[in-house]
Amino acid sequence: MKTIAFAVLFVPLSATGAFAEDPDAHLAIENPAELSKDEANAHYRALSKRMARGYATSQLDLILNYQSWPLFNDAPYISATHGQRFVNSYANRMALNYGTLQPGEVLPMGSVLAKDSMTVTDEGKIYPGAMFVMEKLAQGANPETADWRYIMVLPDGSLFGDTLGDRAGAVAYCHDCHVQVADRDYTFYVPEDYQIKGD
Ligand code: HEC
Repeated sequence: MKTIAFAVLFVPLSATGAFAEDPDAHLAIENPAELSKDEANAHYRALSKRMARGYATSQLDLILNYQSWPLFNDAPYISATHGQRFVNSYANRMALNYGTLQPGEVLPMGSVLAKDSMTVTDEGKIYPGAMFVMEKLAQGANPETADWRYIMVLPDGSLFGDTLGDRAGAVAYCHDCHVQVADRDYTFYVPEDYQIKGD
């Protein structure tokens, strides 16, 4: 129902080249487009500055300039677990072993993993999606989430939830799923066919 309403509403906007906002950026979309890596990269290039500006409105210093951090995927890929959006996996320089983690190893305190996202529907609607953040805290700082802080920022910079701040309950489900990869310090990493080789 909602998808249809947005499609109708946003046709004039996309026709003028403007990007529509996604008011339900925290919900899964139903009809993601099938994109080649080149297409996904082209859409991302067109949208990335606008995404960065939106997230920056949150004034979350942690993710300032995240697009200049090492990127661990060669093209945006659909993440079924993050709303069927096309996502990227960035990690700050502190997270130097993110790509090479061996079972039982952990990331250093101050590691920040930032996964931005964009929606591309099969009707050709394209807009920024939410930003998913994990921050490694000091050892023992938050045992319930194995010293990880989880944050979701909506594309307009508003905070959907922060396990250490406002609306912690809204993002409690993050760790519940990431717990599946406890032996990789709760990180899933990037799907095999999108990993950047030889980095
Ligand atoms: C149902 C399972 C599930 C839930 C819920 C979930 N994630 Fe993830 N997350 C994954 C998977 C799988 C990956 C790696 C593949 C991908 O990107 O889809 C991932 C990757 C990530 C990454 C990149 C670091 C890594 O694990 O390699 C971040 C950051 C992240 N998620 C943050 C969040 C936040 C914040 C939330 C809650 C708002 C959340 N996730 C909820 C499954 C989940």
